Amino acid sequence: MASILIFAALLVSPFTAAFSGNFEVTNVVVSSPSQANPNSTEGSFVQFDFLDQDTPEVGTTHCCVEWAAGSQPPTTYSNACHNSTFDVQVQSWQGVDNVSLELSHQYIDDSIGQYPYNILTKFSDFVLAYPSIQPYSCDISKAECESSGVLVAVVTTAVA
Ligand SMILES: *[C@@H]1O[C@H](CO)[C@@H](O)[C@H](O)[C@H]1NC(C)=O
Ligand SMILES: *[C@@H]1O[C@H](CO)[C@@H](O)[C@H](O)[C@H]1NC(C)=O
Ligand SMILES: *[C@@H]1O[C@H](CO)[C@@H](O)[C@H](O)[C@H]1NC(C)=O
Repeated sequence: MASILIFAALLVSPFTAAFSGNFEVTNVVVSSPSQANPNSTEGSFVQFDFLDQDTPEVGTTHCCVEWAAGSQPPTTYSNACHNSTFDVQVQSWQGVDNVSLELSHQYIDDSIGQYPYNILTKFSDFVLAYPSIQPYSCDISKAECESSGVLVAVVTTAVA
């Protein structure tokens, strides 16, 4: 009886572990000079470092979404991170002080199944808003914002 219980626990725990980690976002810089000065021809960007708590061995990857002055950010995934298993999409852009992003990370997790059912994709809806999200602060006169410390982007969806 005891050995059956232990076996069941071993089977169950990897599943819960697979979905336990959130994303950590650091070194955010968001800049949109044309928001502060309509004459500016400098482009806008959202950049940050992206870590998945479930894959600490991979470390952080740098992500950057850029777009030209006078245009809107791309609204599809555009391979914006150095490690292409991570990605980011701008879901809504109201300016540097109100940006909604969707973050994603896809990786192999053998604890959830065998190929091709071991490919896990996790998503997080992540809002950068000033002054409501701390520690994200903006210099509105330059339309430039940055974070300090670690922002946790809660993983809301995981698809295997
Ligand atoms: C933008 O350009 C116009 C025309 O050259 C100029 O009058 C205005 O002062 C400029 N605005 C800023 C904020 O630099
Ligand atoms: C940010 O923009 C969203 C629309 O995308 C809006 O619903 C929300 O009220 C805005 N938040 C602030 C603080 O302006
Ligand atoms: C990219 O991340 C994946 C996990 O998502 C990892 O297996 C791979 O080694 C990483 N690639 C590089 C070049 O670091």
